[in-house]
Amino acid sequence: MRKNAQQVEEIEETEIPMEDGQSKQEDEEEMIEIKIPVKSMKKPLLEDLPGVGAATAQKLQEAGFNDMMSIAVSSPGEMVDAIGVTEAIGRKIITAARSALDMGFESGDDLLKKRERVIKIPTGSAAFDKLVGGGFETGSITECFGEFGSGKTQLGHMLAVNVQKLDPTAVAVYIDTENTFRPERIKQLAEAQGMDATKVLANIKVARAYNSDHQMLLVEKVEDLIQKQGNNVKLVVVDSLTAHFRAEFIGRGTLAERQQKLNKHMHTMLKLADTCNLCVYVTNQVMSKPDVFFGDPTQAIGGHIVAHASTFRIYMRKGKKGSRVAKLIDSPHLEEGEANFFVETGGLRDVKL
Ligand code: GTP
Ligand code: MG
Repeated sequence: MRKNAQQVEEIEETEIPMEDGQSKQEDEEEMIEIKIPVKSMKKPLLEDLPGVGAATAQKLQEAGFNDMMSIAVSSPGEMVDAIGVTEAIGRKIITAARSALDMGFESGDDLLKKRERVIKIPTGSAAFDKLVGGGFETGSITECFGEFGSGKTQLGHMLAVNVQKLDPTAVAVYIDTENTFRPERIKQLAEAQGMDATKVLANIKVARAYNSDHQMLLVEKVEDLIQKQGNNVKLVVVDSLTAHFRAEFIGRGTLAERQQKLNKHMHTMLKLADTCNLCVYVTNQVMSKPDVFFGDPTQAIGGHIVAHASTFRIYMRKGKKGSRVAKLIDSPHLEEGEANFFVETGGLRDVKL
């Protein structure tokens, strides 16, 4: 059960006691005096932040704020939600986290070097690859939205195989929210390309997400797969990104909460994509817009939060004679356009026009 508006108000009005029995007043005064050593040798700990003791640090971690960076890029509202402080205190914590970090600028040539590390995972359809500039890129989130049966899940399977064709050591993580991952489909797709299906399957780590919190947690655990278990994760599929969020947050009153959670989820993935140079592929359903009379009366779930965090956005629909049409909606450096292809047992195939 979600909180209703009245409950939320009640929670907001309740004063949350500060740690060690301090009053808010005292705490704010003390905070002004605490200075974090900006370039100290040791890595700053959450406990170094003003007003943050062991218990608050734990609350922060439980809410997914594991390091200075995650706090530095958060909003005061998120701090209010995570640890129950006032907005003013939240702002001070964020400011302190920012000054504790070396949030330096990257030079253009460094960024160009980073771009050179980008791997492009092919889709199997030459037209589709051309549309996305050679394949699905690492370092970015690509969102595919479209009606049921438009091929979003099939594409996820295809990418999980093709990333391994590109790099046999690559591992794909598949977060399955709708129970639509099929190992036998992977086998077909791998064998059609002459690959060893057993090996391909072994390099796909599948996790079923049972609700939106579980889904978010699974994404957070991908870093462990890489850093603690040494997996060369190059692709993370979240299929579907929005189904749980859509089912759990029903009604207008819960929209803000849903968007806030989705926002956090998207940012975890964006950071993962960037720091680990991996490709994030998310699928999204569409809902009908009854007030649209011209053009396509469908709209992706998650609104601008998902749209904004995705580097590439592709709209998929069913085309003529059982074909599928992918349309590039939003991309930083590619032309908008369309690709026509078929989903076949062996993979994606171009439509010969
Ligand atoms: P939702 O998750 O319901 O929103 O749909 P989706 O966009 O994920 O669709 P999905 O990728 O599951 O596409 C399903 C379609 O792919 C089917 O209707 C088939 O047309 C096609 N398809 C799936 N498997 C096979 C296969 O083994 N052979 C062939 N020829 N087509 C397949
Ligand atoms: Mg699907």
